[in-house]
Amino acid sequence: MNFKEEFEERVENIERVIRDYLPEETGYQKTVLEAMNYSVLAGGKRLRPMLMEETFRLFGGKDEKVIAPFMAAMEMIHTYSLVHDDLPAMDNDEYRRGRKTTHVVFGEAIGILAGDGLLNFAYETACKGYEYCLYDENHDSLDEKTLLDRIQYSNRFMKAMTILAKKPGIYGMLGGQVIDVEATGKSIDKSKLDVIHEWKTGALIEASMMIGAILAGANDVEVEVVRKVALSIGLAFQIQDDILDETSTMQVLGKPIHSDEKNEKTTYVTLFGIKQAKKFVEELTGQAIEQYQSLNKENEFLEALIYFLIDRKN
Ligand code: IPE
Ligand code: IPE
Ligand code: MG
Ligand code: MG
Ligand code: MG
Repeated sequence: MNFKEEFEERVENIERVIRDYLPEETGYQKTVLEAMNYSVLAGGKRLRPMLMEETFRLFGGKDEKVIAPFMAAMEMIHTYSLVHDDLPAMDNDEYRRGRKTTHVVFGEAIGILAGDGLLNFAYETACKGYEYCLYDENHDSLDEKTLLDRIQYSNRFMKAMTILAKKPGIYGMLGGQVIDVEATGKSIDKSKLDVIHEWKTGALIEASMMIGAILAGANDVEVEVVRKVALSIGLAFQIQDDILDETSTMQVLGKPIHSDEKNEKTTYVTLFGIKQAKKFVEELTGQAIEQYQSLNKENEFLEALIYFLIDRKN
């Protein structure tokens, strides 16, 4: 299989995992459930769950039921961030993932609530991992090895949950969106822009890869290296996003182009121009690969994926 086929196979599997965890559209609050599913099922590259699963594999993780709830949860959190990012009070964009934005279809109030719903439901979903792996009515009759395994899993689970709670929040993605919104219409320098990128985009990619590593049993030193790999990927990813905002088409991207110009955002493109911005993408990817290689572990697909992102078209 070549990279493209492997990539598509993985996306298909991730779609199945995500679908398994989405809420059923019934009850008096049905509209919000429809809006949540509408935004999540619109597609998207599924990059964060993919990076999570591949990092899990990198550290020898095998059991899908350990990682699947966290993969779905991460995509829910990412999708929430997009639904809110597109709101009239934020970037005011009307297309996302090739469809009308959630607030355009369901109205602003339901758009806001669907975002909140996804964020909350993500934690409910991740908690299911604990249920599958630990819940047992006959706890007292378990042998010593099983008990020790469970204690070990509990520790990993709590560490993963802590990351899942922190990185999307005020010291991560949300914090970055705050600085981004406040910088609108102002010119800022590279170091402030880097902080915005690190937080608004890097944080969820960091969380994805760190959780994959933690649940597979990586130690703290390894998890910190993984965080650095993910941060470099995240910074490169946002610069490429800003380049595509300028050079792509809505058809290819599935979202409006020139959104940054409309919102008077400072980006790598406005600071350095397209060509230089591209160089930064390559340089940061090189850093990510170097950090990845220092782990002395192998996952060919993950390495290929990191390279692939340099020239991604959407
Ligand atoms: C868009 O993320 C928001 C950024 C952080 C740039 P993606 O480009 O991963 O969006 P989807 O998930 O593929 O729609
Ligand atoms: C947003 O960055 C990153 C998020 C945390 C959602 P952008 O505003 O550039 O993302 P797009 O271009 O709308 O996907
Ligand atoms: Mg934005
Ligand atoms: Mg936006
Ligand atoms: Mg953008």
